[in-house]
Amino acid sequence: MLIVSAANIFNYLDYSLYKFFLQGIFIMIEKFSLSGYNTFMKKLIINGNTVTTEAIKLKDLLTEYGMPFPCGGKGICGRCKITCHDLSPSALDKRFLSEVQLADGARLACDKSVVEGISIVFEPKTMLKEAIKLDYCNIAIIIGYQNIEIGILNEGIVESVILQNTAAGAINLRSLVGKQCIELFEKYGVAKADTIAVATNAHFAEMLLNSPSDGRGELLDAPDYSLPAETLYVLPFVDKNIGGDFLCKALDKSLPRLVVDAGETFVAGLFTDGDIFCLSHEKVSYAAEELSALKASLELLLSYTKRPLISLYGKNSLRLHGLLDGYSLAEEDDTTLETVATACNENRTRTRLLKLRDRVSLLETVDNDDWQRLFLSANN
Ligand code: FES
Repeated sequence: MLIVSAANIFNYLDYSLYKFFLQGIFIMIEKFSLSGYNTFMKKLIINGNTVTTEAIKLKDLLTEYGMPFPCGGKGICGRCKITCHDLSPSALDKRFLSEVQLADGARLACDKSVVEGISIVFEPKTMLKEAIKLDYCNIAIIIGYQNIEIGILNEGIVESVILQNTAAGAINLRSLVGKQCIELFEKYGVAKADTIAVATNAHFAEMLLNSPSDGRGELLDAPDYSLPAETLYVLPFVDKNIGGDFLCKALDKSLPRLVVDAGETFVAGLFTDGDIFCLSHEKVSYAAEELSALKASLELLLSYTKRPLISLYGKNSLRLHGLLDGYSLAEEDDTTLETVATACNENRTRTRLLKLRDRVSLLETVDNDDWQRLFLSANN
């Protein structure tokens, strides 16, 4: 009797444990599927609208909403620009965007992931717009150490593209530029350009032409340089750091003006109605210890005139604000590509650029007594 009761008790316990075990599994499945839902579905705001998505890459999500990714998200065109203050700047952002743009929340979308709760603003219009067919076109190009900007022009700039400058020689540089021009021609239904105008420095002008140039503005037959146009015009430049694009930044601007390009190569020029003084520093990291040298350079230029307006450009421009306290900064309005565009077919622009170039006096820094004195006082 006692033995039978014990067996019953064990049977009962077996059944209860079994039931408990099954219930546990059901609860776990339920919980897992709920948490799985929460993990995979994310809510964010796109152009003011709340969106729920299971996309992981921002590129996949924004493509659905009409965002263009001109280089297919390969990180080489720098054109998939969004505004999002909730994402930290990535290495790609820092390559293509200036510090001012980054501080304003500009980011590139193609290397980012979807993150819960972020808010994104972008303009979908270029993707939705049908490419128009052009009856003729010119091409404006700016070649810098980091990037190459190429604009296809009709009456004005129709579209511009930014490529990474990976060129290591004339053939390489021409094919990089030529390939991008041809892509634009195909898109806009033109066979080739009338004129290609190139604004660059001595280093890339010589690479492009495969011969030294005097920097006084060269008008050449484009087919001789394997470029898809009738005419190639290389804008005047000063030296390997002060290119035609830098001169364009001062053309048609109110003077006196201090123009500063805070890129990896620091270039500064004081443009007055009379003299123009320029200087440059290569491989600048904008670390605290380098700022004293830059301060001395800026003060040297500023010593030649009273209260010029200051135009600051370049990725590191924000770091120079502290050095220019008390001076009036011009609003950031980079119209360099537009000026290069006018140089395609306006002799007047070409002549004025050459006149600017011929008035430039290059200043030494380390060998200059005034600069040394300013550098010592900047360090104290
Ligand atoms: S799509 Fe070209 S860099 Fe993002």
